[in-house]
Amino acid sequence: MSTIIVFISLQVLFVPVMYSVGASHVCRSYCGNLTIDYPFALQPGCGHSGFRDLLFCINDVLMFHISSGSYRVLNIDYAYRSMTLHDPHLSTCDSIVLGGRGNGFVVEHWRAPYLNPSADNVFMLLGCSTQSPLFQGFPAGNHVPCRNVSGMGCEEYYGCQSWADLGLARMGLAYGTGPPVCCSLPFDSIKSVNLSKLECQGYSSAYTLAPLRVSGPSEWTYGIRVRYNVEASNDSFCKACEATGGSCGHDVEQLGQLCMCGSWNSTSNCDTIMKLSVGGATTTMDKLSGSLITAVALWLMSSQI
Ligand SMILES: *[C@@H]1O[C@H](CO)[C@@H](O)[C@H](O)[C@H]1NC(C)=O
Ligand SMILES: *[C@@H]1O[C@H](CO)[C@@H](O)[C@H](O)[C@H]1NC(C)=O
Ligand SMILES: *[C@@H]1O[C@H](CO)[C@@H](O)[C@H](O)[C@H]1NC(C)=O
Ligand SMILES: *[C@@H]1O[C@H](CO)[C@@H](O)[C@H](O)[C@H]1NC(C)=O
Ligand SMILES: *[C@@H]1O[C@H](CO)[C@@H](O)[C@H](O)[C@H]1NC(C)=O
Repeated sequence: MSTIIVFISLQVLFVPVMYSVGASHVCRSYCGNLTIDYPFALQPGCGHSGFRDLLFCINDVLMFHISSGSYRVLNIDYAYRSMTLHDPHLSTCDSIVLGGRGNGFVVEHWRAPYLNPSADNVFMLLGCSTQSPLFQGFPAGNHVPCRNVSGMGCEEYYGCQSWADLGLARMGLAYGTGPPVCCSLPFDSIKSVNLSKLECQGYSSAYTLAPLRVSGPSEWTYGIRVRYNVEASNDSFCKACEATGGSCGHDVEQLGQLCMCGSWNSTSNCDTIMKLSVGGATTTMDKLSGSLITAVALWLMSSQI
C-alpha cells in the first residue's frame, strides 16, 4: 500500500512541472518569410538528424548546403514535402551558363534517403563531351538516356532565344554523329548531377506544378524541385512529441531522436513517466520511477489473483 502512495505523490510533484515548461516552439524558426519546421531546423539538435547541417539562414536568405554546393531555398512546401532550390549558375530560358560553373546536384551518401529531386523535375545537361559517362554503353547516334520528363525536354528548350544568341551551330548542334548539345533526363536515371564527372559545361533544371499545363520553355519554372522523406516511424514519434508539448530533435552525437520537453529530453514524449527527469537527474529518476511502476504493477497483479 505504501508503494502506491509514494508513486502517486511523485506524479503530483512532477506533472505540473512538466506542463509548465512550454517547449513546443523551441525548434521552430523563421528565415526571411520562410518557416523552418520539422524535419528541418536551423539550430543544432533540432529537427530530424537526416537534415542536420543542411539549412543556414544568412541575412534573411535561407541557404541549402550539400556536397555539390549551396543553393537558395525559394520555398518549402510541408504539405507536399518538397522544396524549391535556386542555383545562380543554373541555365534558364533567358540565360545559358556554360563553363562548368553550375552546382549540379550531388547529395552526401548518408543523406540520399532523405532528399531527392522530384520525378517531375527535368535536368538538362548542356555541352557534355562525347566521352561523357552519359553516352557510354549506347550505340553511336542512339543517345538512349536522354528523354523528356513531364513533357519538358531539350527539343523544346532549344526554342529559347538564348540558344540562337549563343549560336547553336557553333556549339555543335549540327545534328551530326556527336552527342546532342543538350540531354534531358530525370534525376533517378543518373542519381547525381556532377558536371565535372559527367564532363558537361552546364545544366538547366525545370519542373511543372501539376496540374498546370505550360506551353513552352519560357513558361517552365526553372529551379530544382526536391522531395524530402522522413521514415513513418520518425514522423509518428514527432507527432507524439509535439502533441505532448515537446519539440522534435535528435541527439547531436548519437543522432537518435529526442523529444525536447524544456528542462529535460525524452526518448519518447513529454508525458512519459518512464522518462521523468529534471535537470541532470535523468538516470536516477528513470530508474526510480521505472522500479516504482514495476513494483506497483507487480503488487496489483498479485493482489488480483
Ligand atoms: C517571400 O519573400 C520573397 C522575397 O524575399 C517573395 O518573392 C515571396 O513571394 C515571399 N513569399 C511569401 C509566401 O510571402
Ligand atoms: C536536449 O537535447 C538537445 C539536443 O541534443 C541538447 O541541446 C540539450 O542540451 C538537451 N537538454 C538537456 C536538458 O539535456
Ligand atoms: C564530382 O566528380 C569529381 C570527379 O569525379 C570528383 O572529384 C568530385 O568530388 C565530385 N563532386 C562531388 C560533389 O561529389
Ligand atoms: C520530347 O518532346 C518533343 C516536343 O513535344 C518531341 O518533339 C520529342 O519527340 C520528344 N522526345 C522524346 C524523346 O520523347
Ligand atoms: C527513426 O526511427 C527508428 C525507429 O524508431 C529509429 O531507430 C531511428 O533512429 C530513427 N531515425 C532517426 C534518423 O532518428
